[in-house]
Amino acid sequence: MSQSTQVRTPSPRRYLMCRPTYFDVTYSINPWMDPAKPVDSGLAVAQWERLRALYEELGYQIDLIDPLPGLPDMVYAANGATVVDGKVLGARFRNEERAAEGPAYLEWFRERGYQVTHNPVHVNEGEGDFLTTTSWLLAGKGFRSVPDGHAEAQELFGRPVVGLELVDPRFYHLDTALTVLDGDEIMYYPEAFSPGSRAVLQRLFPDAILVSEADAEVFGLNAVSDGFHVVLPEAATGVMEQLRERGFQPIGMDLSELLKGGGSVKCCTLEIRDRAA
Ligand code: ARG
Repeated sequence: MSQSTQVRTPSPRRYLMCRPTYFDVTYSINPWMDPAKPVDSGLAVAQWERLRALYEELGYQIDLIDPLPGLPDMVYAANGATVVDGKVLGARFRNEERAAEGPAYLEWFRERGYQVTHNPVHVNEGEGDFLTTTSWLLAGKGFRSVPDGHAEAQELFGRPVVGLELVDPRFYHLDTALTVLDGDEIMYYPEAFSPGSRAVLQRLFPDAILVSEADAEVFGLNAVSDGFHVVLPEAATGVMEQLRERGFQPIGMDLSELLKGGGSVKCCTLEIRDRAA
């Protein structure tokens, strides 16, 4: 049986998003952000609305958190928390500019009755650096989240954390360098990782899709998968072909304005995993 005949089944998803009402690039905390470059905020909202509409067409449940003035990066909901088995790990940002987002997201979950919530002591930037597979919690470090933050996540979720060292400043969050596609299937850009972390990925995921620098540079790994549909930036044409070969259905989106802040599809999407798996 060739890989392209592999049958893929989408599973229902629940995502938290934040409209980019106050989105702007007023400071620079990653190499993509240039405050001198103008941002079209109307276009940012329109592009984000298209992403949200697509998610609804795909049958996902979309929740919204109110954007707050003075927090231009709050649209990147993935950084707001990590939710696994209905437990919520709050975020603690490395940069002062984003510090207030952590409590705002944690409050959203507390107001909705989430019983197990943890306000972190150590830096972790939510699903920017924590990606959940069936067997592991993959955890990025090197630029934002720190090993002590990984330990806090392991203690809360009771899932084995695999720490992965990021070495290229363009790929400062794990979700810019690696995507979980389904179960324990992933794709990643190897050069974003230290040699040791690359060896770990190869050992744990020998069948992973390896993505080119050209696709990684257009944020092709900042993608969201339901196990069949993979939503990703439309410029990542190479990875789309690789996904089709494995039986996935890629769907390209244009999020050019949000790219100016150093984020794309996945950054705008925080997965709420309510049930224990
Ligand atoms: N400007 C934001 C930052 O540098 C972008 C965050 C992107 N989010 C993500 N999940 N990678 O923190």
